[in-house]
Amino acid sequence: MTAKIIDGKQVAAQMRAELKDKVAQLKSKGITPGLAVILVGQDPASQSYVTAKEKACAEIGMHSDDNRLPAETTQEALLELIAHFNTDPKIHGILVQLPLPKHINEDQVLLAIDPNKDVDGFHPVNVGRMVVGQDAFLPCTPHGVIQLLLRSGVELAGAEVVIVGRSNIVGKPLANMLIQKSRTGNATVTVCHTRTKNIAEHTRRSDIVIAAAGRPNTITAEMVKDGVVIIDVGVNRVEDAAKKKGYRLVGDVDFPAVSQKASLITPVPGGVGPMTITMLLYNTVLSAEKTLKALSS
Ligand code: GUN
Repeated sequence: MTAKIIDGKQVAAQMRAELKDKVAQLKSKGITPGLAVILVGQDPASQSYVTAKEKACAEIGMHSDDNRLPAETTQEALLELIAHFNTDPKIHGILVQLPLPKHINEDQVLLAIDPNKDVDGFHPVNVGRMVVGQDAFLPCTPHGVIQLLLRSGVELAGAEVVIVGRSNIVGKPLANMLIQKSRTGNATVTVCHTRTKNIAEHTRRSDIVIAAAGRPNTITAEMVKDGVVIIDVGVNRVEDAAKKKGYRLVGDVDFPAVSQKASLITPVPGGVGPMTITMLLYNTVLSAEKTLKALSS
């Protein structure tokens, strides 16, 4: 079997077109959705993510307030900036790009963001609300993965899903979202990680494998069954002298071999990546809609 490619760029473009219409409607009612983006330091991958987020905001007519701070920025200064955006009426979403430099306490920074502007869905209030099935901002990458599956016609109810990776940004929230008693859940979920005894034993029986380990070739063809659906969340830079930049991007999955066995598979780049940014736009528009509703009630 040769897999059909799940085209994240195409799904993202369709969702962004829907969001652009919503932004136009909000603007006609006097509200321009605004996102504050904060990047501390010069990590090259973070810089390119942040540039892509700012560009995406502009493309759908949203306002973005871009804050690129030096690596030496103090935690106090960062918390002050967050406090400013928490009360800025032009801002409906605040995104602090992770990881932060070592001298800054990430937990305290995430706690400082107003949960009503936490469009990353990382604040413990939103995480808790998500876990108990209440209305919450859903974290962008896991939400993007679920949208890709649903919009590709994959049945989640009763499906055996294996997630490889247990990060706070992807693995843990995705597992929670997939077990919710809802249209976006009802799956049977296993989470594998670095201490799992035999990952292949789990992946071989699963209908859907989601790789979020951050390591190339974590999922090989021998580890999956015929017809499996593969979602590759990994973004790894591997040296490649043939490329102008000196590297190329690969996921966590051995794409050439696994795509011979899978029924559906996401490529890297062009799979999950475009969806993450789209769901960030989605959350920011949702936040602006909530503001409008509160103003008119
Ligand atoms: N770093 C890697 N992924 C993310 C994300 O989704 N949001 C933020 N803020 N930082 C990240």
